[in-house]
Amino acid sequence: MNAAARKAAGGGARGSAAAALLLVAAGVVAFLISYGFLAMVLRGGVGGGGGGGGGGGVAGVAAGRDPVVPMPEWMRVAGSARGRRRPFHVALTATDAAYSRWQCRVMYYWYKRMQARPEGADMGGFTRVLHSGKPDGLMDEIPTFVVDPLPAGKDHGYVVLNRPWAFVQWLQKAKIEEEYILMAEPDHIFVKPLQNLAFDNDPAAFPFFYITPSEHEKIIRKYYPEERGPVTNVDPIGNSPVIIKKTLLDKIAPTWMNVSIQMKEDQETDKAFGWVLEMYAYAVASALHGVQHILRKDFMIQPPFDTKLSNTFIIHFTYGCDYTLKGVLTYGKIGEWRFDKRTYQDRPPPRNLTLPPPGVPESVVTLVKMVNEASANLPRWDEGL
Ligand SMILES: *[C@@H]1O[C@H](CO)[C@@H](O)[C@H](O)[C@H]1NC(C)=O
Ligand SMILES: *[C@@H]1O[C@H](CO)[C@@H](O)[C@H](O)[C@H]1NC(C)=O
Repeated sequence: MNAAARKAAGGGARGSAAAALLLVAAGVVAFLISYGFLAMVLRGGVGGGGGGGGGGGVAGVAAGRDPVVPMPEWMRVAGSARGRRRPFHVALTATDAAYSRWQCRVMYYWYKRMQARPEGADMGGFTRVLHSGKPDGLMDEIPTFVVDPLPAGKDHGYVVLNRPWAFVQWLQKAKIEEEYILMAEPDHIFVKPLQNLAFDNDPAAFPFFYITPSEHEKIIRKYYPEERGPVTNVDPIGNSPVIIKKTLLDKIAPTWMNVSIQMKEDQETDKAFGWVLEMYAYAVASALHGVQHILRKDFMIQPPFDTKLSNTFIIHFTYGCDYTLKGVLTYGKIGEWRFDKRTYQDRPPPRNLTLPPPGVPESVVTLVKMVNEASANLPRWDEGL
C-alpha cells in the first residue's frame, strides 16, 4: 500500500489520474471475469450453435492467472493489501527427541484449530522439517519432511546449528506451493489465526530485546563489513518467528548456514553470542542480502514476562513459569506452582496439568489451558509417540 501511495504521489496529477483510471478499468475487468458475467453475456449474444465455442474461449481467459490487462507490480501489491489471500507455509524445524515431539504435537494441534477459523485463511500448508535424518513416530500425525543433520562434529554440540542446514535442504528438495514461509519453532502456540504480516519483499519478524547488534559492533563487523552499511542494518531478530517470501529465504538460508558455522568456529563470537548465536547469524545473513524486516512486537508474547495476551498471535513458552501459591512470580527460583517445558525432556507433560493459582497472569493461564486442551484431544498422548 505504501509503495502504491508513493508511486501515485510521485507521478503527479496526470500520472495519478491515469493510474486511477487504469485501476478502475482493471477492477471492472476482474469483476466481469471473476463472476463469469462476461461468459453469460457472450453466451446470450452468440446464442444457439455458436455458444460452445464462445464459452470455451471465455473459460480459457478466466482460467488464466491474470486478467486481460497485465497487472503492474504496484497494483498487485495494492490488491493484496485489500484482502487477497496471501497464504504462507508453516515450516517447523524439529528433532525426533521426546522433548521436541510433544511440543510439535501441541504446536500442530493449535495450527489446525486456528487455520480452520475464517480468519485463518492465510495459514497455508504445514511441514515439520525433521533434521534427525530419519523418520519418527509422528510421521502419520504431522506432515513431515526428513532432512539430514550436520555431519558429526560440525554442530560443535550446538544442535540448533542444524536449523539453517535443515532449511537449505528443505528449500532445495521440497515442493512448496505458497509464496511465503513462516519459520516456526516447537514451543510456539497459535492463540489466534496468524495473518501474513510480511509485505511483498519486506518480511516480518519479532524483535527480541536480547538481540542487540549495535552493542556488538566489533563482532558483527567480522561478518558484516563496514562497506555493506551501518550495523543498524542488522535487525534485532532471529529466524523465528519470521514470515518471508520463499525467493528471499532461498537466498538467505545458505548464507545463514555459512555465517552460523563461521560464528561458531570463532571463539570470541561463540563466547559473546552463546545460545543465541544462530539468531545473530540469521540477522547478519539477511542484512548481507539487503533484506530488512518489519518488526512486529505483536507477533508473539513470552510468558511469564508478558502477562497479557493483548493482540498477539503466538505464545512462545521458552521461559519457565514459577509462582508461589499466592501467585507471586519467583523467577529463577523453583516455584510452588510451575510450568517449565524443560521439566519434560524424556516424556510429555501429564494430561490435565494443574492450573496456576489465583493471581497468575492471563498469559500463563492461557498457556497451560492450551497445553491441556491439546493433550486431552491428542491420541496416545502419554505414550509420547
Ligand atoms: C559457504 O562457504 C563455503 C566454504 O567457505 C563457500 O564455498 C560457499 O560459497 C559459501 N556459500 C555461501 C552461500 O556463502
Ligand atoms: C483435571 O483435574 C482437576 C483437578 O485438578 C479435576 O477436577 C478435573 O476433573 C480434571 N479434568 C479431567 C478432564 O480429567
